[in-house]
Amino acid sequence: MVMFSAGVGAVLTGAKLVDKRINRIAALANVSAYDAEATREYIDGAPHIKHASLRKLYGKLVVQIFDSAIQYNKIPKILDLGAGEGSVTLPFLELGAKVVAVDISKNQLDALKTKCENFGDMLEIRCEDINDTLKDKRVKYDIIVLNSFLHHVPDYLRMIREAATILNHHGQFFSFQDPLRYDSVGKGTMRFSMLAYFCWRVFKGDVIGGIRRRIRRSRGIYLKDSVHDNAEYHVMRHGVDQNAIRYFLESEGFDCKIVSYFSTQSRLFQHVGTTLKLKNTFAVLAQKRM
Ligand SMILES: C[S@@+](CC[C@H](N)C(=O)[O-])C[C@H]1O[C@@H](n2cnc3c(N)ncnc32)[C@H](O)[C@@H]1O
Repeated sequence: MVMFSAGVGAVLTGAKLVDKRINRIAALANVSAYDAEATREYIDGAPHIKHASLRKLYGKLVVQIFDSAIQYNKIPKILDLGAGEGSVTLPFLELGAKVVAVDISKNQLDALKTKCENFGDMLEIRCEDINDTLKDKRVKYDIIVLNSFLHHVPDYLRMIREAATILNHHGQFFSFQDPLRYDSVGKGTMRFSMLAYFCWRVFKGDVIGGIRRRIRRSRGIYLKDSVHDNAEYHVMRHGVDQNAIRYFLESEGFDCKIVSYFSTQSRLFQHVGTTLKLKNTFAVLAQKRM
């Protein structure tokens, strides 16, 4: 495993070092999931891990956030909510942070544990509901991070409010890979995104089942116990409201930036959408004002 050792840093300076770290983080986002056969399917449907351009953007933001955090704490403490198999946990550990990784799925966490086994007590793994995690106000964190998770949370504003209470005075909130609120996306981009999704989806099997579910949902019928309905929760409520998140965080004393970009499952459409500078997905970078 290649680490960001002082030795690596010592021979590289300025932009080259930053580029090297970003590339490394981008690669880790990939490794953290591609290793396991069982997760290939997940990756195929997870643009932020599948596409090099998104991994690069993600790597850039992770390094930026980490560098900001170490100004206040040499070993920043990170809370990774909905950690899954470690697409966030592993890069932050590699950068030198301490991470508490929380997920409700034991299977996911088993995979995370295997990938991060070299980090000893720098990593704490908790198999629990994040709502329970956020109730514990005793420990404060330098960064709270959610990767491809916010859109799975029914009341995400309440969740962000809770998260803000357990951030240190300079703390940062970082979320990546959530769909922009649909009515804030141009009609052309929405149509292009849907076309991209359908072209990709048609090769994934269970096309009839997918059409049936879509028709059912278009009638306003959602099933609480449907894995598909739960996984596509953001579709039911037309994306995630990036403006409400920004207003909320600013009103709570954060400097907040929304970074919008294009993401879709299909490699071809990802390339075209990125080239056309379309935007349908966003990241939140927020830091508590001093
Ligand atoms: C789309 S995955 C994202 C995983 C990882 N962050 C990534 O980017 O690859 C969402 C994760 O959230 C977890 N999850 C969903 N609801 C949860 C909850 N209430 N508490 C804890 N984890 C939850 C799921 O088990 C899943 O691993």
